[in-house]
Formats: sequence, C-alpha cells, structure tokens
Amino acid sequence: MPRTPYIAANWKMHKTVAEAAEFVDALLPKIAATQSDVVICPPFTALSAVVERRYGTAVKVAAQNMHDADSGAFTGEVSAPMLVELDVEAVVLGHSERRRHFGETDEALARKVPAALAAGLEPILCVGESEEARDAEQTEAVLERQLVADLTDVDGAAVGGVVIAYEPIWAIGTGRTATPDQAQEACAFIRDVLRERSAPADEVRILYGGSVKPANAAELLGRPDIDGALVGGAGLDPAEFAEIVKAAG
Ligand code: PGA
Repeated sequence: MPRTPYIAANWKMHKTVAEAAEFVDALLPKIAATQSDVVICPPFTALSAVVERRYGTAVKVAAQNMHDADSGAFTGEVSAPMLVELDVEAVVLGHSERRRHFGETDEALARKVPAALAAGLEPILCVGESEEARDAEQTEAVLERQLVADLTDVDGAAVGGVVIAYEPIWAIGTGRTATPDQAQEACAFIRDVLRERSAPADEVRILYGGSVKPANAAELLGRPDIDGALVGGAGLDPAEFAEIVKAAG
C-alpha cells in the first residue's frame, strides 16, 4: 500500500479567527481534487473556526501543542480531550520552537505522544538536528536519540499511528532548505530507526519541514522516503499552500 501524502500548514502564532476563516475559504476550492491528507495547524483560538469551515472536506485540523494530563492545575495549558471535543484530529508535538523557546523536553514528549494516541489524536512528532550537530556529523545520533526518547512509551505497532516530521533546525524559517538528498537521507534513517523498534515503518508518514515552498516541493516530495511536508511560512498563504498540496498529487 503506498503511503498517502500528508501536507500540513503550521501557522505558528499567526492568524486571528477572521484571518483563519478567510484562508480556509480561499484554500478549499483550490485543493478540492487532492488525494492527499491536508492538515491545517492554527493557534488554539482559531481551531474552531477552521474545524467548522472544513466539515465535509478532506481537510484535517491539528493543534500545535497539548499537555499530557487530561485536566489539572496547569495554567495556560490545553489537554487532548479539550481538542478532541472540538473535532481536532491531530497535534504537533516537539516542534523545535517549543523545544528551544519553551523548554519542551524529550521527557515531556514521552508522555505527550502516548497521551495524544490514547485520546485519538494523531501526533505529528517533530525531530531535527541543529546546525552545529549537522556540522559535527551528529545528525543521525540526534535523530535516533529524539525518536527513542519521545517514543519510549509507545509500543511498536502504535508507532504506525504517529506522523514524524523531520525538521532540521537550520532550515526552519531561514530560506535554507535541506537538499532533497539530505532530506531523503534523514527520512530514510528515521524509517530505519522505527523499523528497528518493530514499528510498521513502511506505513509511517515521514514529512520534511524547513523552508518548503512551491518551487522546491515537488522535488522533495518525489523522494521515496519523504511522504509529505510540514510547511511554515508558505502555509500562511492559500495560493502558495495550494501549490504545495498540488505538488504532492
Ligand atoms: P518554515 O517552517 O517552512 O517557515 O521554514 C517550517 C516549520 O517550522 O514547521
């Protein structure tokens, strides 16, 4: 079974409710024919507006973070059941901006990934190396360490329900995309690590993220182990994002 392409727009801290609604209304007619999974990741405040507009379409909605507990004294946090109640289907976990600016740890991710799965949310788990790590030829060591730590409490079969996003930190928001060869090599390595953990590695969607644009999407998505894209900047514009969705077929 070929893997269905998975194209996600991570809006980060962009778009009000009104802007989110405008984006979705502009995007939907442009991607009506797609066979891919198209996912929009708005800020919490715009989740409902996007969910309501995409009913009856193939578009899925993901949050950008969640807490691992169902409820509790965690000011400022949002839980998996709260997202599920809104009809959100997925959640981005471990984005490098959360790791870097908000102290997201592998220990927290080891709790969040199984909590998301238990609640019925599809985790989009982000991993990726810094520029220093790549220069020191530590890319594979970093990826393996993150994957093993973050998936420690997810048994092999359940890993089939996780989407992995390979996002080299040096390529995020920099305009400096990994070459298709670099991205393919890292995604193939990630698949090997999953296979070693007895996961159904051939079913897992592995995305590339980091300065994906309409101009480079087709070449990246044409590589055998790159099953989709996690798009930041170009995912804020409906025309650009639609081009990337079309590049996936
Ligand atoms: P970018 O962001 O496409 O703007 O580089 C990617 C991401 O952070 O997911």
